[in-house]
Amino acid sequence: MRIFLTIYVLVIAVTVSILGFRGSLTEKEPVEVFNDMDRQAKYKPQAENAFYANGQNDRLPPKLTLSRGNALSVKEVFNPDFKAISSAEELLLSGKDVNGDFSDTFPYPVDFELMQYGQESYNIFCMTCHGVAGDGNGVTKPYGILATSYHDERLRTAPDGYIYDVITNGKGLMYGLKDRLSVKQRWAIVLYLRALQRSQNAPLESLSTTEKSELGL
Ligand code: HEC
Repeated sequence: MRIFLTIYVLVIAVTVSILGFRGSLTEKEPVEVFNDMDRQAKYKPQAENAFYANGQNDRLPPKLTLSRGNALSVKEVFNPDFKAISSAEELLLSGKDVNGDFSDTFPYPVDFELMQYGQESYNIFCMTCHGVAGDGNGVTKPYGILATSYHDERLRTAPDGYIYDVITNGKGLMYGLKDRLSVKQRWAIVLYLRALQRSQNAPLESLSTTEKSELGL
C-alpha cells in the first residue's frame, strides 16, 4: 500500500509539473540540453558594439567605393570578368529599355524554329490555364478564375517586354515562371503568344493576293 501511494503521488506530481505549466510564461532562461546554435559568437544587425568608435555593429561601405552589380548574384559580382549590364542584356533579362520602360524590341532573330520552341513551351506551361487559342478557356475557368484572354485590346497593344515580364514575374493571381523557363524559352513564348493573337485578329490587308484568292476573298 505504501509503495502504491508513493507511486501515485509521484505520478500526480510529475503530471502536474509537466502539464500544469503549459502556456505559462517565464522570464527565466530555458533549460538547454543541447544548445544547438542558440549561442554563437556573432554580431547582430543594428546592435551596439564598443569596438567601433561610433558604437554600432553595422559598418558603412568604405568611402569612395561603389557597389558592383546586384549584390545578390554573388557569383556574378565576384567574377573577375564582371562588367556592368549592357542595355542589350537589360532588354534580354528584364524586357525593359534603358529608361526602364517595357520595350517592343524582340531580342532574338525570329525564325520558324523559335516559333516552334515557343509553341511547344506554351503548350506545356501556359495552355492548361490560358487555353489552346489563348482565350483564357482553361482549367481555372470553371472555378471562376479567368486566366486573362490574350485577345484583349490592352494585351494586343502591350509591348513584348511586358508579356515577357508577366511570364517572368507573374501578375496578380498568376505566378511567375522564371524558375522553370529559360530566358530564351520565355521570349519564344512571347513570340508564339503574338502568333496566337494574330490567329484571332488578322487584318485582311495583311494577306497576300494569293492568300486572299485561296480564301475566296
Ligand atoms: C495556373 C494557371 C496559369 C498558368 C499556368 C499561366 N497563367 Fe497566365 N494568367 C493566369 C491568371 C489567373 C491570370 C490573370 C491574373 C490576374 O489578373 O490576376 C493570368 C494572366 C496572364 C496575362 C495577362 C496579364 C495582364 O496584364 O493582365 C498574360 C500575358 C499571361 N497570363 C501569360 C501567360 C503565359 C505566357 C503563360 C505560360 C508561360 C501563363 N500565362 C501561364 C493563369 C495562368
